[in-house]
Amino acid sequence: MSTRRKFLQQGVLSSAGMLATGKLLQAANPAPAVTGGTKPIVISTWNFAKAANAAAWTVLSNNGHALDAVETGVKVPEGDPLVRSVGYGGIPDRDGRVTLDACIMDDKYNCGSVMCLEYIKHPISVARLIMEKTPHIILTGEGALRFALAHGFKKENLLTEWSENYWKEWLKKSNYSPVKNIENQLYDKTNDPMPGGKENHDTIGMLALDQQGRLSGACTTSGLSFKMQGRVGDSPIIGAGLYVDPEVGGATATGVGEEVIRIVGSHLIVELMRQGRSPEIACKEAVERIISRNPAKAKDIQVGFLAMNRNGEYGAYALQTGFTFHVRSNAEDQFHTAKNIY
Ligand code: GLY
Repeated sequence: MSTRRKFLQQGVLSSAGMLATGKLLQAANPAPAVTGGTKPIVISTWNFAKAANAAAWTVLSNNGHALDAVETGVKVPEGDPLVRSVGYGGIPDRDGRVTLDACIMDDKYNCGSVMCLEYIKHPISVARLIMEKTPHIILTGEGALRFALAHGFKKENLLTEWSENYWKEWLKKSNYSPVKNIENQLYDKTNDPMPGGKENHDTIGMLALDQQGRLSGACTTSGLSFKMQGRVGDSPIIGAGLYVDPEVGGATATGVGEEVIRIVGSHLIVELMRQGRSPEIACKEAVERIISRNPAKAKDIQVGFLAMNRNGEYGAYALQTGFTFHVRSNAEDQFHTAKNIY
């Protein structure tokens, strides 16, 4: 069965299950155009977002800084070997190497980024240290690793047995074809009341607004499975995978990074919000921009955007169905499904 057919079938089955239980109907509803408007609040992408937001919330609910919240939050999937698209346990590149990309941005236009980093479980913390301790914004590969080791990070093997076996299976055909939403077969979703619970693709992008109104964001990923050695996606590129402007709001991206980079997606969304669009409409226009660049390609890939303005109103939009995000505030603690074009 084709990946697409299998994916659609799973969507139908999980929807039927939700209708049967009834209790998940609220989570299955698309988020309305303008939601939120409270602080503190944290939002992040995909089904690992609930645990990540819970960790971020421990910082926000104690009157902590949004920057600490997003770093603390995204470290959860980074350290979870069952999340195979972020940090430890991430699926390797075609040479069997786990290479990680991450970036972070605070409420004062400070930012830090790390690209193609190996052996370090928490690239987001390296990105933060680059932001805080160097005159630079981006460190890559070997230089980034040397910097991390010099600052006390531990060198670890990030390739789990499962990921290594998965890579060896892939090597038999070596067929590179990104799928829209990756099914994470070992993810324990027993207690995970999210729609389409098997879909666990890609990057975590997180945006937080703290009690003082400070906005920060973080974005971290192992990138596309079986990418070429040295390939960097949108996630560590300030303006593409993440952008935060304290005067306006922030945005983050997930999906096929090349298409996000082409439109500088997160910066575009922030600029659209500056012009008065709601977060959801800004995300929708960014998705439409991707389609306008290459309609034939856009039909076959997934890209999702998530945004929040400085008032804590949030929204999302995706090319394809299946893009979920989670929101934690005093008003809610739940998943939403982004609206989509196809
Ligand atoms: N959005 C993640 C990547 O393309 O690497």
